[in-house]
Amino acid sequence: MLIRETPSWALPEREATPEPLYLNRRAVVAGLVAAGALPAAAGTDPGRLARIPARRTRDAGEPPTPLADVAGYNNFYEFGLDKSDPARNAGTLRPSPWTVRIGGLVRKPLTLDVDRYIAKAPFEERIYRFRCVEGWSMVIPWVGVPFASLVRAVEPLGSAKYVAFRTLADPVQMPGLRSPVLDWPYREGLRLDEAMHDLTLLTVGVYGRRLPNQNGAPIRLVVPWKYGFKSVKSVVAIDFVETQPQTSWNMATPREYGFYSNVNPEVDHPRWSQARERRIGEFRRRETLMFNGYPEVASLYAGMDLRRFF
Ligand code: MTE
Repeated sequence: MLIRETPSWALPEREATPEPLYLNRRAVVAGLVAAGALPAAAGTDPGRLARIPARRTRDAGEPPTPLADVAGYNNFYEFGLDKSDPARNAGTLRPSPWTVRIGGLVRKPLTLDVDRYIAKAPFEERIYRFRCVEGWSMVIPWVGVPFASLVRAVEPLGSAKYVAFRTLADPVQMPGLRSPVLDWPYREGLRLDEAMHDLTLLTVGVYGRRLPNQNGAPIRLVVPWKYGFKSVKSVVAIDFVETQPQTSWNMATPREYGFYSNVNPEVDHPRWSQARERRIGEFRRRETLMFNGYPEVASLYAGMDLRRFF
């Protein structure tokens, strides 16, 4: 179910995260900081980041994963390869000021000043399931706007068929760039109709506050029916293009990581099954759902062989 109007159960921003719960999470995060697992820098400590007013428009119907996990168990190879590296190392990222250049095959290219955008855009809170290709998953309350609103603002030309995204690649801010694990900058892409689907979220916050650096501050994409690596972090450039863009993981291992990478329990990764997943915080593995439980995207792939276009 997709809700565009404010539904009767939509929560005002102040109730989106109950304060006792939030304070409890804060205590957990503070504990991690004290233990040296998380640095105390404002950019990485979620409790010290600014709140963003947002109304909840989508609920996953499942309890959100605690903030300590969302902001403490990450993949952000620009800051290291271990799950705890981004929270430990991303204090060097400077998310403000930050601009995103949006261009290519568009009538109205623009440069987005992210701080100004966050001050004025009407944001939504959307609680989405998030499934990593590695077989773990979370439920995350993101704050963002449908990416389609940005697409409409730049007016793509008829020849624009894909959208290419690029992460910052600054070796001064990102120590992980020393590792040749990927061909930097981190690149991702979507077909234009996927990018315009209402579920595709241009994301600036999590748990009601600005994104911690380790989660892709100050602005990232979230595509909930695709494996997590499609949700590119710390975006600096968005280009509308005619042909399918190159993407980092597909370039690194094309046999393992396709351009589409829709969550699909029936198409195994060459080295492991994708039929089940481990929800962070749970003991037993649960079944993975087709399109990660977002069947409304199925029409985007009507007639396509999802084994071939994986
Ligand atoms: N974006 C960049 N720039 N670099 C990365 O290493 N990792 C991807 C994705 N976006 C990644 C990235 C992967 S593999 C996952 S699972 C998600 O970010 C993790 O997002 P999270 O840490 O906010 O949960």
